[in-house]
Amino acid sequence: MQPVPALRAMTIDDIAGGMRLCRASGWNQLEEDWRLFLDSPGSGVVLIERGGNVLGTAAYLRYDALAWIAMMLVDPAERRAGLGAHLLAEALAALADATCVGLDATPAGEPLYRRFGFVGDYSLVRTKATVDRARFPNPLGPARHMLQSDLEAVCRRDREVFGADRGRLLAAWFERAPECAWMVDDASGVKGYTFGRPGYRYYQLGPVVATDAATARDMATHCLSPLNGRVFAIDVPLLDEEWLDFLKSVGFAEERRFVRMFLRGHVHPGIPARQYAICGPEFA
Ligand SMILES: CC(C)(COP(=O)(O)OP(=O)(O)OC[C@H]1O[C@@H](n2cnc3c(N)ncnc32)[C@H](O)[C@@H]1OP(=O)(O)O)[C@@H](O)C(=O)NCCC(=O)NCCS
Repeated sequence: MQPVPALRAMTIDDIAGGMRLCRASGWNQLEEDWRLFLDSPGSGVVLIERGGNVLGTAAYLRYDALAWIAMMLVDPAERRAGLGAHLLAEALAALADATCVGLDATPAGEPLYRRFGFVGDYSLVRTKATVDRARFPNPLGPARHMLQSDLEAVCRRDREVFGADRGRLLAAWFERAPECAWMVDDASGVKGYTFGRPGYRYYQLGPVVATDAATARDMATHCLSPLNGRVFAIDVPLLDEEWLDFLKSVGFAEERRFVRMFLRGHVHPGIPARQYAICGPEFA
């Protein structure tokens, strides 16, 4: 058996190598996504390289006490040789002090994570559509475009619903796709919000957070119906049938499933039932 090549921390100069792995697996990330892992406090990416080629990566990101593992990617030609396990062990060593570590597992990754002690929480489904305006009802509800000045109240609400502070991420999404940032509020406060971001192959809508499915539907209708022809993915926790039925009615089709998994117990669960779409498996 070949010795496992050495690990090291990823730098900005390695992003092109990370992008090559994304393209080889049909993933959607852009350079700015990798940069978020490199720039966020207490976060980073470990990689394995041979002869200047990046063979595998594992990223970790901190949201307060919750740490998130992502970008577990091994070059297709190098799989099943222990690189994934080696990368995961290193990322977990960097997170030894984290109260709780989470990730969204693909079927390819799930057995590896189980071996490291991760336990499944709930399932998620990736849905995807090319937006067809004609399939949406007229947007009649109170959703409105989010403004920069709304971000503080939205991030405060997000802390309760997500269970940790991901304000840095939401501010980045607001900049990258302001047309996807919608919200509903009234005198009692923020009732719902959506964010989105561009990707290499499609846009991702998420998070979508709402007090109820009707609010989620209203925001999605306002947000998506003007974006006719754009391809969107929405990653939906399998917790609300009504919401999933709505997405299917406007053309979203199920593509694949993930399992949300946690290590050391999930101590900051927030309010999962209010999370109609996650940010994406790489960002929780
Ligand atoms: C998931 C992924 C990162 C795993 O990487 P990997 O380098 O193949 O992982 P490992 O080699 O450590 O382990 C994978 C399997 O190979 C086996 N294996 C490890 N070393 C081996 C060896 N020397 N000989 C044969 N098999 C070996 C492991 O037992 C494991 O088996 P199992 O999963 O069937 O139980 C990789 O498959 C990948 O990039 N997939 C596409 C992207 C993806 O889905 N990522 C996960 C996101 S959550």
